[in-house]
Amino acid sequence: MRIQWHSGHAVGFPSIDSQQQELVRRVNKLGDAIRAGRVEEVAARLDLVRGAAAVQFAEEEARLRAAGDRSLVRHRHEHLRLIEDLDALADALAARGVDALREARVASWLPAWIDVHAARTHRELAALGGRGPAPSLPARVAAQRVP
Ligand SMILES: [Fe+2]
Repeated sequence: MRIQWHSGHAVGFPSIDSQQQELVRRVNKLGDAIRAGRVEEVAARLDLVRGAAAVQFAEEEARLRAAGDRSLVRHRHEHLRLIEDLDALADALAARGVDALREARVASWLPAWIDVHAARTHRELAALGGRGPAPSLPARVAAQRVP
């Protein structure tokens, strides 16, 4: 599964929106490398995804903290869990190779995480950025459904 960045992902802070686009690019390249079974590239791309996520998460949390937004605790918890999961995947990759990431369905799980996180957890951030809440996930899924 490849993920396509779209306006529903935007939160209205240009730096965060461009970071998110870069994260999406890196996630797609990681998925390509996993599917191709290129273990050294997978390790490097997993590290690039972690780096992009950490930068983006830090700015999101700083914006929420500066605004005194109550969603910070829940939002930060989701970020921490993803970083922990990425670290566990890096360990699994080192121990068992690309099969460990295939078994964890990383190439589809990670794009789905971004979609769900943006649709559900970025609401308050998007409100701060003047974008209003992102469309709900069911609404977006319905809009993308091919008749
Ligand atoms: Fe976030």
